Amino acid sequence: MGSGIGIGLLGLGTVGGGVASILQSPSERHPLVADLKLVRVAVRDLNRPRSVELPNEILTTDPAVVVNDPAVDVVVEVIGGIEPARSLILQAIAAGKSVVTANKAVIARHGEEIADAATKAGVYVLIEAAVGGGIPIIEPLKQSLGGNRINRVSGIINGTTNYILTRMAEEGAAYESVLKDAQELGYAEADPAADVDGLDAADKIAILANLAFGGSVERSAVPTAGISQLQGRDVDYAKQLGYGVKLLAVAERMKPSGEPLPLSLRVQPTLVPNDHPLAGVNGVNNAILVEGDPIGRVMFYGPGAGAGPTASAVVADILNIAGISQATQGDDRLDPLLAASSWRRCVLVDRGEIRQRHYVRFHTQDAPGVIGRIGGCFGDGGVSIQSIVQFNASKAGAEIVVITHEVSQKKMDDALQSIQALPEVSGLAAHLGCL
Ligand SMILES: NC(=O)c1ccc[n+]([C@@H]2O[C@H](COP(=O)([O-])OP(=O)(O)OC[C@H]3O[C@@H](n4cnc5c(N)ncnc54)[C@H](OP(=O)(O)O)[C@@H]3O)[C@@H](O)[C@H]2O)c1
Repeated sequence: MGSGIGIGLLGLGTVGGGVASILQSPSERHPLVADLKLVRVAVRDLNRPRSVELPNEILTTDPAVVVNDPAVDVVVEVIGGIEPARSLILQAIAAGKSVVTANKAVIARHGEEIADAATKAGVYVLIEAAVGGGIPIIEPLKQSLGGNRINRVSGIINGTTNYILTRMAEEGAAYESVLKDAQELGYAEADPAADVDGLDAADKIAILANLAFGGSVERSAVPTAGISQLQGRDVDYAKQLGYGVKLLAVAERMKPSGEPLPLSLRVQPTLVPNDHPLAGVNGVNNAILVEGDPIGRVMFYGPGAGAGPTASAVVADILNIAGISQATQGDDRLDPLLAASSWRRCVLVDRGEIRQRHYVRFHTQDAPGVIGRIGGCFGDGGVSIQSIVQFNASKAGAEIVVITHEVSQKKMDDALQSIQALPEVSGLAAHLGCL
């Protein structure tokens, strides 16, 4: 790289547009921003109106032109999706170019293949924007927290669902009506499945687990539940009991050490006590809580999506690459803290071994002794109860809400089976996690 650093953008949508507008106005930013030159940009449709004005000659509909342009030193992939993003990233690496991407879907599924290729080629693949939008979390996990043994990473890492849950809690509104509003306001996609089914959060927690614990995990094996089945009454009952409901993503180690290291990962709607640091994270904001030894708890909070915040993270990665290249002047050894590298094997424990507290709601007959019999089944199954409350008793029946102490999923499932076999219990109406 010479003194100017050539940037090739794959995609000029929400994030790409945000990146281009930072690169075009370097004033009052770090002086290195002025050295970044946007030389090529790939889009799908040359005639689409853009939020930034760029010279026509740098636009192309052929992404290979961007990747192969000798003036492009760093390729920024903000197209999204799996293909052609994965192939373009690998082509850029093969051409000896470092890559910056915001694409959590491709990194969660093909991160190992991409990291191996990057290590062999001696280039960086940086992904700050892939998790938490504008929140710096990837670099802190790689660098600032490197002296810690990380025990747990948990967070609210999907802004769309957090917006929906916040409004459900504040207005007592139903899921479907808030989702419709969120779509009209542009906070939710026309096809909201990736967000509301928890898939986007599962991609992100798989990425965070890899960085926190040093080894990749099988993305498809992450137990994932979204919010589309969540009922307003559970948000309301949780509120009455002193909790908020959040779509929480959790990754934690199950043993102090081990090879492979056993990890528990999950994404699910979870009751968060009102005095917990994640409880105050509302609207489209994200937050990630990292628990490590010796640091204790540290929380990263901020805007989890949007053109400006995400572009801020992308440009931070470009600056890291530019800074290192200027400092090392052609020395092609990678900075081991910044390079993506796994240093151990990790393995996900079976779902039955995951330990946590639970919130469950049963529909029951309003008959004497029901609470006792439910409590008895939990006790017989080794599940210790923190609280058991009856709501809405009437001739039509009652609702019994139970919050347990921490217990394995296997014991919980077995106890639930025996409770559902009780003649007074007409069904398990809700089952959520609880912090
Ligand atoms: N939006 C956010 O807030 C956010 C936050 C964090 C991470 N991300 C991630 O950032 C990435 C980009 O998201 P986005 O919201 O910016 O997406 P977007 O607005 O849909 O933009 C995608 C861009 O890629 C271009 N494109 C798509 N397929 C292409 C192809 N085959 N060849 C050339 N160009 C192609 C599109 O061209 P046209 O404009 O011509 O259609 C568009 O400019 C995704 O991985 C997303 O998960 C987004």
